[in-house]
Amino acid sequence: VQCGFCTPAQLLTAKALLDQSPNPSEDEIREALSGVMCRCTGYVKTVEAVQRAAAALRDETVPPIEPLEQELPADAAEVTLPKAFYRRSGERAPLPPLIYTPPEMPKTRVVGKAQKKVDAEKLVRGRPVFTDDKRPAGMLYGALLTSPHAHARIKHINADKARALPGVHAVLTHQDIPRVKYASGGQSYPNPLPYDQASLDDKVRHEGDRVAIAAAETPELAEKALRLIEVDYEILPVVLDPEEAMKAGAPIIHDEPDTEGIFDAQRNIVHRIESKVGDVDAALAAAEHVFEGEYRTPKQQQAHLEPHVCITYWDEDDRLVIRSATQVPFHIRRMVAPLIGLPVKRIRVVKPRIGGGFGNKQEMLLEDLCAHLTIATGRPVRMEYTRRQEFTSSRSRHPNIMRYKVGISAGKIVAADLYLIGDTGAYGTHGLTVQMVGGFKGLTLFNPPNARFVSDVVYTNKPPTGAFRGYGAMQCQFGINVLMAEVAEKLGLDAVKFKRDNWLKVGEPMHLSKSLGEGREGFAQKMESSGLEACVAIGLEATDYYRKREANRQQNGVIRRGIGMAVVMHGSGIAGLDMAAATLKMNDDGSFNLLIGATDLGTGSDTILAQIAAETLGIPVDDLIVYSSDTDFTPFDTGAYASSTTYISGEAVRKTALKIKAQIQEYAALLWKVDRPETLILQDRKVIAPDGRSMT
Ligand code: FES
Repeated sequence: VQCGFCTPAQLLTAKALLDQSPNPSEDEIREALSGVMCRCTGYVKTVEAVQRAAAALRDETVPPIEPLEQELPADAAEVTLPKAFYRRSGERAPLPPLIYTPPEMPKTRVVGKAQKKVDAEKLVRGRPVFTDDKRPAGMLYGALLTSPHAHARIKHINADKARALPGVHAVLTHQDIPRVKYASGGQSYPNPLPYDQASLDDKVRHEGDRVAIAAAETPELAEKALRLIEVDYEILPVVLDPEEAMKAGAPIIHDEPDTEGIFDAQRNIVHRIESKVGDVDAALAAAEHVFEGEYRTPKQQQAHLEPHVCITYWDEDDRLVIRSATQVPFHIRRMVAPLIGLPVKRIRVVKPRIGGGFGNKQEMLLEDLCAHLTIATGRPVRMEYTRRQEFTSSRSRHPNIMRYKVGISAGKIVAADLYLIGDTGAYGTHGLTVQMVGGFKGLTLFNPPNARFVSDVVYTNKPPTGAFRGYGAMQCQFGINVLMAEVAEKLGLDAVKFKRDNWLKVGEPMHLSKSLGEGREGFAQKMESSGLEACVAIGLEATDYYRKREANRQQNGVIRRGIGMAVVMHGSGIAGLDMAAATLKMNDDGSFNLLIGATDLGTGSDTILAQIAAETLGIPVDDLIVYSSDTDFTPFDTGAYASSTTYISGEAVRKTALKIKAQIQEYAALLWKVDRPETLILQDRKVIAPDGRSMT
């Protein structure tokens, strides 16, 4: 189970199949499940689960799935794989997780072990756990009118007919709410400029941009109200290509006077990022070889199965509750407050289970609109994007153009120059930070001592881009990996060895880390540990890389197969910005409430954090009641992004659990008159003294 949004449907489908066919083949299972879309899993585990369920129903023994744990040898070249993992004959059967741990890593009892997810049962049983599963009494249905034009000014808008429709409780346009500028990216305070959006504006900058909202008794009435809104557009010239957008005479997308912080609005350049280390020009001039390459990556939608969805209502204390599928509940509370004219203390944001996010729910897309409708009507309001709106009105990965130039001497990369055009679409949101991460990772993976990064982040009349797994790093590391492979080919080098000789090594400083932080100056960093050597050695073994590569060279014909090797680096958390907290409360029976602000969006972080607490307190995960992501009841957390939850929220949980552990040890030491409380062990729900005494 991952996010679990599709799981009840998978389960019902599997039940129907097994009722008819108790011993289905893999193909039959795949065919049966083909009508149930799952964004998270890739179906491998789902198919295996159906096979195991079928075997159990046939009264066959089904052994538990346990990870295979191996100790990592000191020399990565000596890593061996269990035989089944080689798959040289194209086997497809799922394999258990294979975990290599270095010998110095402490042994664990709960962390890293197979564990049923703390939310698994309610997800599998289809309990009402998602935002839209619970609807307050008297709820209205909100709907969003979006622009059919990629660039237009709203000359006139008239909602009288829509408002007159019986059953319609509110219709709001830019004329009805205060104009407060903001940036929709859910980022730490202060959000990077520019604040180039307003909840509803008198100009639209992409097809799917916001025009008006309505709330009515039924979804159909709300949609009908939208159709009755009369909008007189002055259609403006459109620019979709970021290189065209930067040219003189291109349409100016943000010509409004009240947006601050655009680098060059006349040329649609929202940010110019410049960063360098060493002397790139001199190093390139002195290099034995200089190579260049241009690489382009496309726009890509996150396509989480649960759309953006939000329900807002007033509670009995006249506080506004926002129940939302968001990755960043605390950022939403802070960001929405000025837009709706309420202080933070009168807003509560609750994140139930989320049906996937992949970065796209690190944006404030519906919360402000839904809140405006609740404020206007006094009634609970629900808003949800349609699948079409997910493509036209939410966010996507930045399409990038990357131009690399590298200097190579004696097989080493001595200089690299990267010019990056990041297409941010109609609004800036994550434009600055995504490109900074991209430039940093793209130029640090092979870490030349001379490096220069210049990026133009450019407005176009396309739906805005935002956060998506990897956050810019994927695009730039794709480019540098391809260029390094091309360089190796041209120089007659083994591409794997060439990359290995050049990738960032333990102990090396990351030359650009100080100048390229995330939206601001960063921190000097160096690589402190790395499993890359072993990882690549295992990968080469498992894929039979060299034999296949050689065999592939013998192919003729139009369609040929190839095999390549790429490496990437990724950060966990944002240095100097990310923070987390945890609360543990002990109950009468020795169980604990674990309260965490961290946001589990299907990643399993609630379970991982419970495992960390259980490991530290010597209790089973079952003894932890996990409650997360409610701004009234859980401690502050920046949210789920930057692959940080296990490390940052996890460390908050560990430190909290250590404090509780120390209190338990001290109290037990007092009762037993033991001088050194730290000698008492917490294990199996007990405190155990060195002399064998124990208490619960
Ligand atoms: S687990 Fe299937 S969509 Fe998330």
